[in-house]
Amino acid sequence: MLSRAPLDIPRLIAERRPGYSLAAPFYRAREIFDLDLEVIFGRHWIFAGVEAELPEPGDYTRLDIGHLSIVIVRGDDGAVRAFHNVCRHRGARLVTQEAGCVGKLVCPYHQWTYELTGELIHASHMGEDFDPSCHGLKPVHLRSIGGLIFVCMAAEAPADIDDLAAVLEPRLAPFDLRNAKVAKQVDLVEEGNWKLTMENNRECYHCAGNHPELGQSFNKYAVGFVPDADDHAGQAEAAAYEAQVTAQVADWEARGFPSVAVEHLSGRATGFRTERIVLDGAGESQTLDTKAACRKLLGGLTDAKLGGLHLWTQPNSWHHFMGDHAVTFCAIPLDPEHTLVRTRWLVHKDAVEGVDYDLDRLTEVWNATNAQDAALVELAQQGVRSPAYEPGPYSPLTEGLVDQFATWYVERLRAHLG
Ligand code: FES
Ligand SMILES: [Fe+2]
Repeated sequence: MLSRAPLDIPRLIAERRPGYSLAAPFYRAREIFDLDLEVIFGRHWIFAGVEAELPEPGDYTRLDIGHLSIVIVRGDDGAVRAFHNVCRHRGARLVTQEAGCVGKLVCPYHQWTYELTGELIHASHMGEDFDPSCHGLKPVHLRSIGGLIFVCMAAEAPADIDDLAAVLEPRLAPFDLRNAKVAKQVDLVEEGNWKLTMENNRECYHCAGNHPELGQSFNKYAVGFVPDADDHAGQAEAAAYEAQVTAQVADWEARGFPSVAVEHLSGRATGFRTERIVLDGAGESQTLDTKAACRKLLGGLTDAKLGGLHLWTQPNSWHHFMGDHAVTFCAIPLDPEHTLVRTRWLVHKDAVEGVDYDLDRLTEVWNATNAQDAALVELAQQGVRSPAYEPGPYSPLTEGLVDQFATWYVERLRAHLG
């Protein structure tokens, strides 16, 4: 009978060639998938959702990442907390619904009952010596940054989340996302490893050939396209775009909207990048006609022409914040070859569907783009299954962020494997 030798993961990590995609086992092997859950998703800050989906005390959501499960809940005091979704009696899964609203958290097995703060307040038949105060739910680190919820399941969470907060809070403040509502959430399962989902997100090399809807608002020069030296018309176009960006960014900055790029994508535990990007056409929104999809703007904004504030975080999210709406994307590994991409569209909490916005118009560009991306990720996964696959070179012009993602990933594995 054929038997397979265990993977030499430290050797695969050591052999990763900078500027090249990863070796096939990183996209396929169960051993590496399990390591990803333990090291990457178990010990780093993960984008988990938005406060706007928990508007009322008792509102909760459950997030499963492989065998890890957490519950995120808003308490009676208004604070949002996260707990391991594991009862302190005999360990049953506490919350079974994906989302809901409760007064207390009650285990379905023997009805141990927890406050929304995690405190155990009821456990029958446990005898006189039982101390409920030693059996509260185990907390998970949670940071809400401008209404975006990040969680970390490690005992000690990376402290450099403070840098993300310092950069992001002032950028997100004008959007007042805590007072937004989720107009729509769509879950899409991509047939690919989570790292192929992320790599695909980190470049727009593929945009011109695959994303006609997104291309209405995305300028190719904003996403790494460089005209050939003898393409004089292209050179002039690129120069005109650059001049427009310089003037627009200076104007935004002067009006109190931080816009210049801040990039800390590797060399640290909490990697991120943010930049406000000029949108084409009317410059207002990622819609087919590039105009706002929601009449009521986010926060107290009065000007829709704020381009798109982009945010990329390692390991699992990307976001676009515009004057009229925001779109957040969360990638969750399901198994070595499947990844959940959860997309949420946020609008002002008082915006009324059918009056201030049309849901189809709000969501059509990213619904189309997500479907196109899912097809591309599936193609990539099919390719890495072949013995003919070998790591290929990233474009130095348009795939720098992909290389940063892969670099961050191997750095983090190396840091934890020693
Ligand atoms: S396992 Fe939860 S109450 Fe028994
Ligand atoms: Fe794409």
